Amino acid sequence: MNNKLSVLLVDDSRDMLELLRRNMNAMGLNPFATESVVDAIDILENTEIDLVITDLNMPGIGGLQLVKYMSQHFSSIPILVITGYPNVEDAVEVMKLGALEYLIKPFTFDELQSSIDKVLTNRSISVVDDSEEVIIESFHGIIGKSEPMQKLFRTIDRTKNNKASVLITGESGTGKEMVARAIHYNSSFSSSPFVPVNVGAIPEQLLESELFGHLKGAFTGAITNRVGFFQAADGGTIFLDEIGNSSPAVQAKLLRVTQEKEVTMLGATKPQKVSVRIISATNSNLEEMIWKNLFREDLFYRLNVITIHIPPLRERKDDIQLLINFFNKKFSKESNKKPLKFSSKVLSLLKAYSWPGNIRELENFIHRIVIMSDVKVEVEDIPSHMKMASPATYNLTETLSQVEKKHIEKVLNSVNDNKTKAAEILGIDRKTLREKLKRD
Ligand SMILES: Nc1ncnc2c1ncn2[C@@H]1O[C@H](COP(=O)(O)OP(=O)(O)OP(=O)(O)O)[C@@H](O)[C@H]1O
Ligand SMILES: [Mg+2]
Repeated sequence: MNNKLSVLLVDDSRDMLELLRRNMNAMGLNPFATESVVDAIDILENTEIDLVITDLNMPGIGGLQLVKYMSQHFSSIPILVITGYPNVEDAVEVMKLGALEYLIKPFTFDELQSSIDKVLTNRSISVVDDSEEVIIESFHGIIGKSEPMQKLFRTIDRTKNNKASVLITGESGTGKEMVARAIHYNSSFSSSPFVPVNVGAIPEQLLESELFGHLKGAFTGAITNRVGFFQAADGGTIFLDEIGNSSPAVQAKLLRVTQEKEVTMLGATKPQKVSVRIISATNSNLEEMIWKNLFREDLFYRLNVITIHIPPLRERKDDIQLLINFFNKKFSKESNKKPLKFSSKVLSLLKAYSWPGNIRELENFIHRIVIMSDVKVEVEDIPSHMKMASPATYNLTETLSQVEKKHIEKVLNSVNDNKTKAAEILGIDRKTLREKLKRD
């Protein structure tokens, strides 16, 4: 295996390319050189590149477009921009797009070397390197540093000591239960119980007695008195998971608990007072369920005093690298291995992937790959469905007209059905749009 770092050089001047190539060789780096951005992209797609050095002003497609393209498709490969025309706006723009360094021609060998060092040092912070301690940013075990996660951490902090009901929403695998536990275990009543109840998993006829308890003889089989989850959680937190799956009868009973702060055991005549903070979670759209008469609106408002929405992983891609590092370390340690290394290309693919199963999917993926791989994870080790940017929305069995129809619908939706605006976005005239809409 070649351990040299590969550097892609992009410059329209052959002399410059030649000079750079010689400098790379002198620095012990492995150069790939091209005069065009189109070829550069081709090389990026087919070779494992660790660093890109590009000129900005080139005929045809310029370096700025390459930087832009890389920020979308190869965001983990560091970029050093070199240019002969110093221009503040360009410099600011390329830096914003993700270039790490900016070097003005003419430069000396030492200046080039020091810029490359800086860029590569920056990179090693974000790539798992077993020689360095990787800093994991987390809030009580919840990994994340993206803006939405920071907001979430602030909300947890503000919510934790308050007994108001919390509703946690989010897709499957986003960490709803984890957030519920973080709220409870950081609260002033953390020494009281946290009682998780999977409302969706308990058969309907048992749910009431499980939640509220029963007295001996309340129903066939009730041979002793038994307390329910609510009594068990007294003083602490009850976590009602999958609340969207509760039956109308249970919803009515839950409403009573939230209003009266008391529960009645099955078979009992008198209610008992309980002091329980309710955290519920759902991946269903409760508002839509209310609209369809599947969920009680009054209960929704009782449960939803504080709402915490956990965004899906694809909306906080900044956290992907952090989560990879965290699970890589965790599972490698469990298997008595050194953490795996991920090639830049693999990291780019993992960042571009849509993670429909969210953190749980990422966690399972890293677990599997730690078991299956030895030192470095290469593109071949990644399952093919993860190599497509958004498999969730990309269906290879659809006809062109089906795709067109869906796209038109999405655009119309985004402009509140304004046909003139939609036609403008779609690049067709209103008449064509009308015909296309009439077609089915
Ligand atoms: N931010 C995070 N940092 C670290 N681990 C996380 C994070 N979010 C989720 N996880 C892990 O991902 C897995 C799924 O989390 P959790 O069970 O809390 O999700 P959920 O939203 O309740 O999912 P579901 O809707 O499927 O019940 C767990 O193993 C959890 O530890
Ligand atoms: Mg859950």
